[in-house]
Amino acid sequence: MDEIQQAVDQFRTLLQEQRSRMLRLEQGQEAVDYSKKDHIVIGVAPGDGIGPIISRQVRRVLQQLLAQPLSQGKLELRDITGLTIENRTALGVSVPEDTLAQIKACDVLLKGPTATPKGGTMESANVTLRRELDLYANVRPVTVPEEGIDWVFFRENTEGEYVLGSRGVALDGMAVDFKVTTDAGTRRLCRAAFDYARRNGKNRVSIVTKANLMKKTDGKFSSVCAAVAAEYPQIHTDEWYIDIMAANLVNPAIRSGFQVFVLPNLYGDIITDLAAQIQGGVGTAGSANIGNRYAMFEAIHGTAPRMLEEGLGDYANPSSLLKAAVMLLTHIGCSAEAARLDAALTAAAAALPMTGDASGATCEAFADAVLANL
Ligand code: IPM
Ligand code: MG
Repeated sequence: MDEIQQAVDQFRTLLQEQRSRMLRLEQGQEAVDYSKKDHIVIGVAPGDGIGPIISRQVRRVLQQLLAQPLSQGKLELRDITGLTIENRTALGVSVPEDTLAQIKACDVLLKGPTATPKGGTMESANVTLRRELDLYANVRPVTVPEEGIDWVFFRENTEGEYVLGSRGVALDGMAVDFKVTTDAGTRRLCRAAFDYARRNGKNRVSIVTKANLMKKTDGKFSSVCAAVAAEYPQIHTDEWYIDIMAANLVNPAIRSGFQVFVLPNLYGDIITDLAAQIQGGVGTAGSANIGNRYAMFEAIHGTAPRMLEEGLGDYANPSSLLKAAVMLLTHIGCSAEAARLDAALTAAAAALPMTGDASGATCEAFADAVLANL
C-alpha cells in the first residue's frame, strides 16, 4: 500500500481513539473525598537508578512520621513490585499489567524516577501511568522565600504533545508527530488551577501558550482558559507566550510577581525544570500528578544514571521525593503531618548541604537529619 495511504489510515484510527477519550472526559468523574475514607493505601514504587536509594530513605521517614495512623490502620504503606526497567524491558511493556493492577488497588502512589529507553517504541512509564490513571493535573510548586518567589505550575498532564508522542508517523525521509488538545481536558486542568488559587488566597493566574504558532491546539487551550478565567472575576488573569515566559522566569526584576501558571503539557515539562533550577536544582522539586480517582507523587527529576556510573548514588538528594511526600500527605488530608515533614525537611536542608558527591551529605545522613527534626 502507498505509504501516504497507510499514514492516513493510522491518522484516522488516532482521531477516532482521541474522540472516544474526549467523550469519556466530557462525562466527568467525581473526585475522591479522603476525609470520608477510614483506610487509605499509599503505594510505594522505588523506580530505577537513584530511585531505590531515595525511596528507601523517604519510606523510612514516612514510617516514623506516620507511626500512629499506620498502627491504627488508618494509613497503609504498600510496596509496589515490578516497576523496574529490567522487568519492563523483559516483558516489553512500559507498565506491566500486574504492576498496574497493584497500583490501582492503592489510593495514591509515591513513585521514584523510572528509566525510559532512548529510541525504540517503549513509552515512558510516567506517561503510561498518567494516562492509565487519568492524572490530568501536574502540580509543581517552586519557592525561593528569600526572593519572594512562590510559584505553582499547573501543567496539563494527559494530552498535548504527550498523548500521541509514541505514535507519530514516519514516511520515507520524513516524520510527523501529533498534538491533541480538547475542551474538556483543558477545562478541568484550568479549573484545578483557578480553584487552587482561590483556596490559597492567590490573586493572579498566568496562562502560557504558543497560540501564535500552534493555532489550533494552543488556540483552543487559550480560549478555553479565557472562558474558565471569566468564572473567577476576583482573580487577575494574564496570558503569555512560552518563549517570553522563559525569559520572565530568569528576570529577577519581575519574576516574583507571578503566582500560578497554567500550561500545556510540553511547555510545562520544560519550564518546570527551569523553575526548579532557580529553586536550587531539579533535586529539590516535588511533583504531584492529580486525577479525580488516583494521584501519583514523584520527584521532578530522572534516574540520574551518571551518578550511579560514577559511584555517587549514595549522595543522591532525597529532597524532591520528600517534597512529593509532603504533597501526598496534604492531598490525602494529613495536613498536620505534611507541615511537620515540610518543616523538618527545611531544617535538614539548611543544616546539611547536598552536593551530589562526597563534599556533601549522603542520602541516608540527610534522612537521619529529617528524622531528627520531625
Ligand atoms: C517529567 C519528566 C517526564 C515528562 C519524562 C520522564 C517522560 O521529564 O515528569 O517532567 O516529560 O513528563
Ligand atoms: Mg520533565
